[in-house]
Amino acid sequence: MSTELTLQSPLDMHLHLRDEEMLKLVAPLTAQTFAGALIMPNLVPPVTTKESALAYKQRINDAKKYSDFEPYVTLFFQEYNYDFLKEIKDDIIGIKLYPAGITTNSEGGVAAIDAEALRPTLEAMSELKIPLCIHGETNGFVMDREKEFVPVYEALAKEFPNLKIIMEHITTKDSVELLDKYDNLHATITLHHLLITLDDVAGGMLQPHLFCKPIAKRYEDRDALLKVALEAHPKVMFGSDSAPHPKHKKECCGCAAGVFTAPIALQVLAELFEEHGKLDNLEKFVSLNAQSVYEFTPVEKTITLIKQDCIVPEIYEGFGENVVPMYAGETLKWSLS
Ligand code: DOR
Ligand code: ZN
Repeated sequence: MSTELTLQSPLDMHLHLRDEEMLKLVAPLTAQTFAGALIMPNLVPPVTTKESALAYKQRINDAKKYSDFEPYVTLFFQEYNYDFLKEIKDDIIGIKLYPAGITTNSEGGVAAIDAEALRPTLEAMSELKIPLCIHGETNGFVMDREKEFVPVYEALAKEFPNLKIIMEHITTKDSVELLDKYDNLHATITLHHLLITLDDVAGGMLQPHLFCKPIAKRYEDRDALLKVALEAHPKVMFGSDSAPHPKHKKECCGCAAGVFTAPIALQVLAELFEEHGKLDNLEKFVSLNAQSVYEFTPVEKTITLIKQDCIVPEIYEGFGENVVPMYAGETLKWSLS
């Protein structure tokens, strides 16, 4: 049995850091253990210009506290022209498309995802090799939203064969099955969707800190996600979707969607991969696959975890903000060295 685990340059390919005081609180919690992260652009207002992308990157760098962490910023999808994209291409890692109103701060997203209407932007992205990250849900019945989005993924994958498309935070067996069907489809998987089902969210007393979009699904969905993550399928990457909301916005009537996993992600991944006898695959899932999908080399950073119990804080507080992590108050089997 392993007692120590070393990971080279862990990467979180889907992360919400927010802004201002919350950014100051949460940025160091990821920067401590990860070498880099793909940062979501759903601020208010969203990141849509070169100026706002660069300024946001600077604010993250000012807040992160660990110099060996690189934020990879993204733009919020709108219709953009070729010249603008050419100009910004080296400053961003991708563009994130949200269906309008589907989740937190996505009101300015795309109202109807139609390959023809979006063709000029998507062709420019394809030519300039800018990946398209997608929150793949319709506004249908909550448990079917991702399944109903499958035809949209397929249409985009077929219409734009050279566009790298990342299906963000996949939660269903149907999405997993798309991976081997289209060369240009890839996916991120969160920690929480590898661990929980809807039963954990709403099967007993309602658990607001496990409520997120897309909502956790069925056991067979979780098993399908687990299978590709544990085998470190080359088209899947770890993307925590760690999404901090202050405690009063979670423990209230009208709970905000998002699970805050940043400070526990690596430790819990180690526990999960070890439990399944797959610790050797963890570095692929949490670093190497992302490097080959996005074609980049992260900063060198060695993280050592040790097999030692640690208790997760009940709450993280600072700068006048607070946020409750997943597994608050519970004991984890692996700790940071
Ligand atoms: O649960 C979620 N929270 N899902 C998302 O897609 C967005 C995120 C957030 O920004 O809070
Ligand atoms: Zn997200």
